[in-house]
Amino acid sequence: MAEDKVLIFDTTLRDGEQSAGIGLTTQEKLEIARQLERLGVDIIEAGFAASSPGDFEAVQSIMREVRGPVIASLARCVANDIDRAWEAIKDAEHPRIHVFISSSDVQILHQLRSNPEEVLDTAVASVERAKSYCHDVEFSPMDASRTDMDYLYQLVEAVINAGATTINIPDTVGYAMPWEFRERIENIKRNVPNIDRAVLSVHCHNDLGQAVGNSLAAVSTGARQVEGCINGLGERAGNAALEEVIRAIETRKDLYGVSTNINTRQIYRTSRLVSDITGFPVQPNKAVVGANAFRHASGIHQDGLLKERNTFEIMDPQSIGWPSSTFVLGKLSGRAGLRSRLEDLGYKLAQEELNQAFEAFKDLADRKREVTDADLLALMSSQRRTLDIPATYTLEHVQVSSGNHEIPTATVTLTDPDGQSITEAATGTGPVDAVYKAINRIVQVPNKLTEFRVDAVTEGIDAIGDVTIRIEQDGQTFVGRGANTDIMVASAEAYMNALNRLLAMGVSKGADVPTTH
Ligand code: KIV
Ligand code: ZN
Repeated sequence: MAEDKVLIFDTTLRDGEQSAGIGLTTQEKLEIARQLERLGVDIIEAGFAASSPGDFEAVQSIMREVRGPVIASLARCVANDIDRAWEAIKDAEHPRIHVFISSSDVQILHQLRSNPEEVLDTAVASVERAKSYCHDVEFSPMDASRTDMDYLYQLVEAVINAGATTINIPDTVGYAMPWEFRERIENIKRNVPNIDRAVLSVHCHNDLGQAVGNSLAAVSTGARQVEGCINGLGERAGNAALEEVIRAIETRKDLYGVSTNINTRQIYRTSRLVSDITGFPVQPNKAVVGANAFRHASGIHQDGLLKERNTFEIMDPQSIGWPSSTFVLGKLSGRAGLRSRLEDLGYKLAQEELNQAFEAFKDLADRKREVTDADLLALMSSQRRTLDIPATYTLEHVQVSSGNHEIPTATVTLTDPDGQSITEAATGTGPVDAVYKAINRIVQVPNKLTEFRVDAVTEGIDAIGDVTIRIEQDGQTFVGRGANTDIMVASAEAYMNALNRLLAMGVSKGADVPTTH
């Protein structure tokens, strides 16, 4: 008998991208989508095509390039949304239109200013419209966990008759508790006569910290699609963290009796890429992918582990592709050694990409005695950034002088869009301020620095410093990342990365450049 599967529906590029402070370019979305394909997710919700021309373009690019998984576009129960969704995904190998409408009294009355009968008719008409384009139609009654049960049964039955092939039950406001949510799913199965004609899905938000628990409770009673985001990104407190749902289903197969199509060895790399691109760090104690997830500090635990891994470790870190600290490279390592290590980490590079990575590696190995897997991942992230964001300006040189009796002063040289080198110097309240002011004098793009963070990639005094910043212009946020053993260089790289992203999105330059602090 075929194994019972739970489909994994990733909405990092739609609900995840709705997180405050995330704004991704099409190129970045494509990169995440390619990695989601490697991870083996069944469905990628690529965006909300009707919401903006940028979203439309991103959904279209993803459906053209990513051929394995189903590619879904979200649409309200509005004719134009459904038409735009179809327009964006119609050439996908496996297209899906995902329509949604509010179903709880509070949302129907106050948000839609409508009534339940009208909502039911609109939902049916919208599913029929979507179905006239696409055989794969998902329907979500928004705020289902606060919807009157009898109404929910009627609505779900009607949209299945209209052609919906997946029924997704969202806990939109993260209100449900696991036993309650499980009961709701059971009741839907019991009281909707045609429910076996659709896949039952769940979509849980994390406002009360129950998103993963609610999703798993639903799986335990027959839900066969789980929606969520990598690293638990998403509106407000986020969506169910997919890596946790996947790992729980796999680790507790004895309990759930189901499996997924996920290549779990790609989990760490996916988490890392999403964090890197969005600039949302993963908390160290985060389940499955946090830096401490497999670190055992207690002596008793360490003793147990040395005797038998099972004593204190329920998952093998390698099963999620955790970087090894056993293999280290150094300045005598060659191209073949680097290629082999990168392949083990999941990177298959073309010759030209390998050459670039090798140059960056040599440069790092000159400054750092041992180059670990974590360093290589940071290095590959830097390489990727330079490819993803077209560099309007590039950083050639940065020099800083500071000290307890000195006025921090920075000199910066950038190459401008015409290939000219421009040098400027500035003083500041601190060395980073001085560097950013010198860059501002050249680039002249008004913006406000809203976040600045430095993390060490590995332990030790020679660790790579990973700088993440956010800048804002006209309410839009742009993330910048930079990694270098010298944190002033990393800070300058991060600022250039954010400015280039801002410029790539067509934001205008202005003469009046306020301080970034
Ligand atoms: O949380 C929610 O209800 C949603 C729907 C659009 C599925 O994101
Ligand atoms: Zn949602």
